[in-house]
Amino acid sequence: MEMLKAKIRDIPDFPQPGVLFKDITPLLGDAKAFGAAIELFRQRYGNRHVDYVVGVEARGLVIGAALANALGTGFIMVRKPGKLPAETLQATYQLEYGSDSLEIHLDAMTPGSQVVIVDDVLATGGTMTAVTELVATLKADIIEVAFLIELSFLNGRSQLKNHSLYSLIQY
Ligand code: PRP
Repeated sequence: MEMLKAKIRDIPDFPQPGVLFKDITPLLGDAKAFGAAIELFRQRYGNRHVDYVVGVEARGLVIGAALANALGTGFIMVRKPGKLPAETLQATYQLEYGSDSLEIHLDAMTPGSQVVIVDDVLATGGTMTAVTELVATLKADIIEVAFLIELSFLNGRSQLKNHSLYSLIQY
């Protein structure tokens, strides 16, 4: 875990003044660190029945797709508005800085699908709450919501009390 933490850098005042941004690009750029992070997630879910990994734009797509491939499951994208080409379902949420919406394809998965949802960072929990609403509307079962990084001091976990939640790294 210290090896992973060493590859995450702090960027002050990004994307807005007062925000200390956790930049995971050095971790993704390092084959050993990226591989180790995916392997830790794979070990957690490898012995479970998982139909799909759901990943959240933007960095959650990178981690989620790698994990889906490691688990041998399908991968489903949750994207910002207007990016998915077919018919979508939309959810709006509050961000740490601003508000936004997310979309999933209406036909992305069948009811009863077993899914793990992945994102890079849990901050206030608004993003993941919106994603769990989208997945729940499609009547899939959420095995767990998983994060590379949990910013514990923002207590996003409290918004996601109804779900099992896992994070590799906590600050
Ligand atoms: C960041 C991060 C999470 C979200 C966490 O994404 O990647 O998705 O914020 O914040 P929350 O828990 O307070 O909702 P961002 O909105 O910056 O979008 P990006 O990944 O497209 O840059």
